[in-house]
Amino acid sequence: MDEHVIRTYVRQPEVFVSGEGARLRTDDGREFLDFLGGIAVSALGYGHERLTEALRDQAGKVLHTSNLFRHPYTEQVAGLLAEHTGMDAAFFANSGTEANECAMKLTRKAQRMRGHEHRTGYVALEGAFHGRTMGALSLTAGAKYRDPFGPLIPGVTFVQRGDLDGLAKALRGEGEGPAPAALFMEPIQGEGGIYDLGSEFRKAARQLCDETGTLLVCDEIQCGTGRTGRFLMSQHDDLRPDVVTLAKPLAGGLPMGACVVTSELAETLVPGDHGSTFAGGPFVTRAALVVLEELKGGLLDAIATRGKQLRSGLEHLAKDHSRITEVRGRGLMLGLRLETGAPDLQKALYRAGLITNCTAGDVVRLLPPYVVTKADIDRALEILAGCLASL
Ligand SMILES: Cc1ncc(COP(=O)(O)O)c(C=O)c1O
Repeated sequence: MDEHVIRTYVRQPEVFVSGEGARLRTDDGREFLDFLGGIAVSALGYGHERLTEALRDQAGKVLHTSNLFRHPYTEQVAGLLAEHTGMDAAFFANSGTEANECAMKLTRKAQRMRGHEHRTGYVALEGAFHGRTMGALSLTAGAKYRDPFGPLIPGVTFVQRGDLDGLAKALRGEGEGPAPAALFMEPIQGEGGIYDLGSEFRKAARQLCDETGTLLVCDEIQCGTGRTGRFLMSQHDDLRPDVVTLAKPLAGGLPMGACVVTSELAETLVPGDHGSTFAGGPFVTRAALVVLEELKGGLLDAIATRGKQLRSGLEHLAKDHSRITEVRGRGLMLGLRLETGAPDLQKALYRAGLITNCTAGDVVRLLPPYVVTKADIDRALEILAGCLASL
């Protein structure tokens, strides 16, 4: 009975009670293949032995002590993030939106410390989704997310995806409002329809940020932490952001975000500037440690291999079904863009036991757990072929 739950989500009636790998089981014994992974979260799938053992052990020790005290797992996770990203230091948060709030505050303060008091604006892209708290929402494009809640924070300029001239103008502060502290960019937009901004655009954005003294924040909350076969999507382009925000798969299903910065920015925030009661505590960091160690130990290669298998299967389907106009994305972050009927296809897939979702109105989005097997992908492609044929 959900009458006491505020209806911010349309929930399916199924109750999932257990799972293994990429497969979920309902309370009445039905099995689903999960190609959504709790919206890009369940990196290690369900029932992962090492993760389960680590959490069982940690649950019997301490769950929380607060950030007033050191904890080795917090420090080890920060160290592994530095190793994986080639950056320097992390602030931990409890969600993606909070990681972006930290990035917003940090980049404004960094500009102030450089003597650029006036650089208080931000630039973001059309199609962007950076979160739902008031700061991150101000950087999120899309009337449906924003309009009921205005006024949002002022000084945000949105630029069309692909419009380098528009981006150059916005970064030079040629529009209305204050000059920007930072550009926020998802290398592959998730909610925006698995929309790859493209290597050329991303590299040009970095160059324009350098030319104009704007800080580059890559929001890799959905496309990062291994999702595309490299730890960061930015690494495919050798792109060096000033700030990277992470969340979703970071702690394998527990709520955790991180705002990771270069050594130049590591000293920007000092005690009292920012904080979180819960974030980066021993329980979530114990989980993140497992995820980050698995990613060091061959999981990235598996993601790349399985991603290629899934993509080639989807491209095959696109040849047979003209209603598929595009296969999008990279690694295990893929989307099927349909001319019509994407929501109907998603519903049919669900009825047939394959969990996906529909984003941007016309894209069926696939974000399976990193531990998805060859057989799982073969089965998902079979279900997709069946549903496409019968629609
Ligand atoms: C790219 C991106 N940024 C930020 C967020 C917000 O993350 P959260 O829902 O954990 O606050 C999301 C969530 O979908 C996202 O995809």
